[in-house]
Amino acid sequence: MKVFRTAEDMRAWSYAQRAQDRRIGFVPTMGALHGGHESLMQVAAAENDTAVLSIFVNPTQFAPHEDFDAYPRTWETDIAMAEGAGIEAVYAPKASAMYASDFSTYVLVGDVSEGLCGASRPHFFRGVATVVTKLFNAVLPDKAYFGQKDAQQCAVIKRMVRDLDMGVEIVEMPIVREADGLAMSSRNKYLTERDRQQGLLLSRALFAAEAQMKSGIRDAGEIGAGIRAIMAPLAIDYVAVVDGATMEAVEKIDREVLVAVAAQVGAARLIDNIKFKPEAVV
Ligand code: PAF
Repeated sequence: MKVFRTAEDMRAWSYAQRAQDRRIGFVPTMGALHGGHESLMQVAAAENDTAVLSIFVNPTQFAPHEDFDAYPRTWETDIAMAEGAGIEAVYAPKASAMYASDFSTYVLVGDVSEGLCGASRPHFFRGVATVVTKLFNAVLPDKAYFGQKDAQQCAVIKRMVRDLDMGVEIVEMPIVREADGLAMSSRNKYLTERDRQQGLLLSRALFAAEAQMKSGIRDAGEIGAGIRAIMAPLAIDYVAVVDGATMEAVEKIDREVLVAVAAQVGAARLIDNIKFKPEAVV
């Protein structure tokens, strides 16, 4: 497996692939890979002629009080998982190569980035959109794979790619869960055993909401109230029922909705979601 540390080296390899008509699938990550990332890598390798993984803990998407320094760095196990999943090249630039000391160009995606995680982490999507643009410019992918666990991130990236004519197909893959329902996340490493049990309240609340919606409840307020009741022991950041594409709050569940939650559990800020589409909507 090849490892590239600069955009120039990465791009030279990608140009060579493209010159041979090889389609590139790309999985951008911050490392600390888990089963969710593994599923993205396996599909990227299966659907394309070659697959590239990036590992870069991106400083611009962390606020100064957040967990940039503590974010798990697990290079050896990440590389082993990537190899097993069929990744051919890894792009792992250094922060100094990504961000010059006078770096001053950012990508701002309006609208879809403003609520939910964007409201409590105002710096976050600017950092994500900027780094994903830089990663795309180095890797030159045909398709890029993201997990639905970060559903708002997926919406932001789809909007950015559409608005800026980036010509990359964005594939959103289902959430991968532990056997007990906890959504896989690199930040689950921060959880103590007690936190982990508390963390299960997110998926439990979402599954209960899904059952309510399947039974015909269409009032978003009622769905939100049920979720808040189950998550009451946690420090809830948000409970939201929004349009799946625009991230705008809905009152009635009359189209595909994203039901998304975030809460602080011990040292970890956990997020989770489900998507639901009423049967009558095609
Ligand atoms: O989802 C992530 O791991 C990150 O936000 C991403 C997309 C790799 C950008 O740093």
